[in-house]
Amino acid sequence: MPPTLGTARASVPLPTGCRAIAHSNIALAKYWGKRDRELNLPDVPSLSLTLAGLTTSTWVRFDRQLVADELVLNGSKVDGPAASKAVALLERVRQAAGINLRARIESSNDFPTAAGLASSASGFAALARASVGAAGLDFSSRELSDLARSASVSAARSIFGGFVTLEAGAFFAEPLEVANDAEQLRMVIAVTERGPKAVSSTAGMLHTRETSPYYPAWRDGAPLVHRELREALVAGDLHRAGAAMEHSTLAMHASMFAARPALIYFNAATLSAIQAVRELRAAGAFAYFTIDAGPHVKVLTLSEDVSRVNERLSALPGVIRVLISGSGGGARLTEDA
Ligand code: PMV
Repeated sequence: MPPTLGTARASVPLPTGCRAIAHSNIALAKYWGKRDRELNLPDVPSLSLTLAGLTTSTWVRFDRQLVADELVLNGSKVDGPAASKAVALLERVRQAAGINLRARIESSNDFPTAAGLASSASGFAALARASVGAAGLDFSSRELSDLARSASVSAARSIFGGFVTLEAGAFFAEPLEVANDAEQLRMVIAVTERGPKAVSSTAGMLHTRETSPYYPAWRDGAPLVHRELREALVAGDLHRAGAAMEHSTLAMHASMFAARPALIYFNAATLSAIQAVRELRAAGAFAYFTIDAGPHVKVLTLSEDVSRVNERLSALPGVIRVLISGSGGGARLTEDA
């Protein structure tokens, strides 16, 4: 059941503006496919790690002077699908608050936008947190997660820090308690392309679902992989978790390879990085890869192996840069309005 929004009413007058930050998250068990397109509900369960190193900062103000909502992303005005999703999210906030004011949103990322680095996750989580604050509302984390999910399923997970799980068909994500040694985990991201991806994740997953004969196999197998990953993390069995993580991403991409026409997010450096991770592992490092709707390779490793993994990935032809991050906290308001 969706949480009921609108139980908290807006205090009048509205605050002058609210800023929130949220971190990106990388799914270890992937979400790929919508159960309900209208409601934007996931067809498979997913499990992610929120990353301190990839952050969106978003400022929102409801303003009597405005005739339409305005979205400025990384300094440029934005129209199109991202803006429509933001407006739909604001609409839910306006309804809950009982206000009819348009808003100005100013958002910036400290990492590449719409390139398969989960900028929509941190972006819509930060927008949910900031717009609820700017409307004078007080939402629970579940309500915030539901609000963020309505714009982008992965954003539901960025409301929370650390490991986060989102069940198939769920309206909101939930944090997952894991064994302590998970604090040593790091994500090393090999960025293998500049600029935005060619096919958005929404378009990609709809196309896969409609045309790939492997989509049902992916959808039916995903809950098992999710459960295996979850159990392995809770038990602190990181090698088992890493193996489940690789299986999840490869099964997801296999469903895309079999779409008509095929959907291939990989480039040559993606394959080189996969190979490098397998070699690092054979040489004794803790390193497992995952790849989203883009060509970058995200490597789950431990603090003690970070420099090895970083050196190896940085030396690969086609790797433009490497980002390193540990686990981060959930979406939150910041002082700086
Ligand atoms: O929620 P979206 O539209 O950003 O889709 C995310 C899809 C993947 O990044 C490929 C997987 C995931 O679970 O984050």
